[in-house]
Amino acid sequence: MKKIQIAIDGPASSGKSTVAKIIARNLGLIYLDTGAMYRVATLVALQEKTEDASKIIQFIENHPISFANGKNGQEVLVGLDNVTEVIRTNEVTNAVSKISAMVEIREFMVAEQQRIAQKGGIIMDGRDIGTVVLPQANLKIFLVASVDERAERRYKENLSKGIPTDLERLKVEIAERDRKDSTRVVSPLKQAEDAILLDSTGKTIKEIVQFIEEKAKKLM
Ligand code: DC
Repeated sequence: MKKIQIAIDGPASSGKSTVAKIIARNLGLIYLDTGAMYRVATLVALQEKTEDASKIIQFIENHPISFANGKNGQEVLVGLDNVTEVIRTNEVTNAVSKISAMVEIREFMVAEQQRIAQKGGIIMDGRDIGTVVLPQANLKIFLVASVDERAERRYKENLSKGIPTDLERLKVEIAERDRKDSTRVVSPLKQAEDAILLDSTGKTIKEIVQFIEEKAKKLM
């Protein structure tokens, strides 16, 4: 079977990571959550109280980001620390647009992502995978959904984890993160010319997975 590269880009909470994880398992691909890597950089910035990109990078070079299979799915490690949950807190989420807009941080992360992609068949989700990280990807999907639906999904997810959340505030935050991610100068969130636009509003995860897998299997 051919080793394929699948790029899934799109705005926050459009379902990218959920579908990418399922497809990775079904098709035997490596799954790389690039958003988690920018979240780690943001966590480092907050914990080390610095916005100096070179200091953040140096910290990560000394405490490399790695992924492991845990009981509840993929876990994110920085050095030996398990940061899977702390990188999803509101504090990190609300600061991530600023840190992920830094050129040096992006160059560092893109190089890491490209290095990981050389290991074999891969499905990566993010904002700039089809445009910058894997411009040669065999299959590119740009996954979108309405702000209301995305906020409701995140709301339910938070409730199930016991995180108190205000739905209206979530809508404002999601729209604001979209705006920041799409208007930043370096690698803004943008559909690659050769990407397939897929709107997940009103669709089930299963339907989205099936659509992408059908296309992927033809390329393998
Ligand atoms: O997918 P996510 O919400 O976990 O991503 C967190 C942030 O990281 C998001 O606000 C945009 C940024 N990001 C990015 O700039 N480029 C990527 N490839 C992935 C995420």
